[in-house]
Amino acid sequence: MPTILAIESSCDDTSAAIIKNGKILANITATQKVHEKWGGVVPELASRAHQQNIVVTVEAALKTAGVVKSELDAIAFTRGPGLAGALLVGMSFAKGMALALNKPLIAVHHMRAHVMANFIGKEVVFPHLCLTVSGGHTQLVRVDDFDQMEVIGETIDDAAGEAFDKTAKLLGLPYPGGPAMDQLAKSGNPKAFPFAEPQLAGLSFSFSGFKTSVLYFLQKATKSDPLFIEKNKADLCASIQHQIVAMLLKKTEAAIRSNEVKALTLAGGVSANSELRERFTQLGEKYQLPVFIPAFEYCTDNAAMIAMAAHHQYLKGEFATQQVEILPRWDL
Ligand code: KG4
Ligand code: ZN
Repeated sequence: MPTILAIESSCDDTSAAIIKNGKILANITATQKVHEKWGGVVPELASRAHQQNIVVTVEAALKTAGVVKSELDAIAFTRGPGLAGALLVGMSFAKGMALALNKPLIAVHHMRAHVMANFIGKEVVFPHLCLTVSGGHTQLVRVDDFDQMEVIGETIDDAAGEAFDKTAKLLGLPYPGGPAMDQLAKSGNPKAFPFAEPQLAGLSFSFSGFKTSVLYFLQKATKSDPLFIEKNKADLCASIQHQIVAMLLKKTEAAIRSNEVKALTLAGGVSANSELRERFTQLGEKYQLPVFIPAFEYCTDNAAMIAMAAHHQYLKGEFATQQVEILPRWDL
């Protein structure tokens, strides 16, 4: 059974993990603070920060796991999708290390890895339905096996994480807005402000119209009362969050009805959202389906999920060569 070092650098988190015999021994993440003041991830700054963080992050992961480099059987990295410059840092580092240690490389798909986060310390049955909600993706994935995943529904515009971040920005919350909105929503009334819900056929999601309706609502309300947002922040957060979660659950429910699945899983950064976790669990109860949600540390970007995916690729002998290139855009 292999010992693998995995590196994640697709966006603004530099992360390294060690997996041994399918068990995560370390998962170390350096979160980049440099983007906060710009209100979003600045790709050039992300690449530079990855360069600065990657050596110490990998060393910390090895030290935490109590593993020395010579014990590694493979080096895994995120090949895509993600920011090109950021992916290049992780891949180049992995290539260099694989070359120096004469070990194989494993190229991992970031969104598949998010789905695989559900297998950390758990046995999930197949086939299951995974709602993958991150800053860049919103997908309903039918998972038939570790390497058999099919997107059966996705967003036609913004991702759910973007919906959180963009509406949070309108409320003056710091980036990324999702966690801040989640926190403030806890003391607000989710029914205070009903926002328009898009009517979309099938299993497609749409969030950009929702974001615009929040914008227009706030423009109108602050015209008559400039302090409207300040006075109603918790209620606004609760109402926006409630609506985003409702949109996610509506399509998930439609997917349950049209697919024979044995379990439900959540994945991606937005799966850290407390209301989504709670209502997703209730949805499973309604359909008598077991629900699996990753532990918080495996929801947002992390290398443990890359390591989990890499473990299964290793068992199948799926290795990459030194000629492998990044894929900033890569379908599931
Ligand atoms: O998976 P992830 O870490 O990075 C991507 O691959 O995109 O997801 C980041 C997204 C951000 O949009 C962030 O606001 C959102 O996940 N997020 C949350 C929460 N924690 C992170 N959204 C809502 N509630 C949260 N608690
Ligand atoms: Zn992600």
